Amino acid sequence: MSIFVKLSGKIDNAKASGYNVVMKFEKYCCPICSSKLANRGKSCFCERNHCFDIAKENYLNLNISQKSSDKAGDNKEMILARKEFLQSGKYQPLADKLVELVDKYSGVGSVLLDLGCGWGYYVNHIQSKSEKSRTYLATDLSKDAIKIGGKLNTYVDFCIANSYHLPLADKSVDMLLCVFSPYAIDEIMRVLSDDGKAIFVYPNDYHLWELKQNIYGDNVHTKDFEVDFAPLKEIEKTSLAYSFELTSSAQIHNLITMTPYVYTTPKYMLERAEDVGKMQVRADFGISVLEK
Ligand SMILES: C[S@@+](CC[C@H](N)C(=O)[O-])C[C@H]1O[C@@H](n2cnc3c(N)ncnc32)[C@H](O)[C@@H]1O
Ligand SMILES: [Zn+2]
Repeated sequence: MSIFVKLSGKIDNAKASGYNVVMKFEKYCCPICSSKLANRGKSCFCERNHCFDIAKENYLNLNISQKSSDKAGDNKEMILARKEFLQSGKYQPLADKLVELVDKYSGVGSVLLDLGCGWGYYVNHIQSKSEKSRTYLATDLSKDAIKIGGKLNTYVDFCIANSYHLPLADKSVDMLLCVFSPYAIDEIMRVLSDDGKAIFVYPNDYHLWELKQNIYGDNVHTKDFEVDFAPLKEIEKTSLAYSFELTSSAQIHNLITMTPYVYTTPKYMLERAEDVGKMQVRADFGISVLEK
């Protein structure tokens, strides 16, 4: 069995001791010519010598689009709100469930990609609890999010990239995770290996129901997310539902700030919802595991 070693810089010692070395970021491809990247310490180079510096926070920026709409992703305020909320452990049951599913469907030496990873809460949890020989990749369009991820966990290869144009070779991912993030099914089909699996997490109808009631009163509606993963085929579908308590306006604010309501709802309605100060909220996650 090979032993995989993740390194951020020099490979000499590991090579000398006979390890099979997987250098950081070498699973990614050049966004200009699509050839493989080689890690030469502080930078990665492709076969045609295009160069991408590794940021001091330990991430790679492979988003070369000049369009401002392609550079967005979540802003710093949303990222920090999500970080504070997730670090409080309220979605840990989901993180634990993902560890279970990832272990069930992928094993030693596989490549896992967390697509639209945010600051990396789920991929970091999986990496710390699960198989160490996996290569963990995590991509997001938001520089603020990827910067935090890179600083927090050097065992995950964080990269700024657009989920609609991934800097990854065809069939190079064995396990793809997409938690509440936008995706292009064609791009997922392209990067997923022939026996690869994809796990999607999405809100069920009553996810955050009490929060929605608190914001919208009688105008609350249940259905706001349609799932369609074709041509991927579903092999397991499950739900995870439980209640958690928010005990301050700041906690309610963080949860609201990490949801789409922050884009679509007048500020005064959100502030009114925060003023409640304390509430019990239902989490209700839909989880689908799919294969090609
Ligand atoms: C609802 S958040 C989920 C983040 C993370 N999966 C989590 O659950 O903590 C959606 C994420 O998708 C990212 N995003 C939005 N558009 C994207 C795109 N075109 N490519 C990559 N990431 C994108 C945002 O920056 C944000 O981090
Ligand atoms: Zn290149």
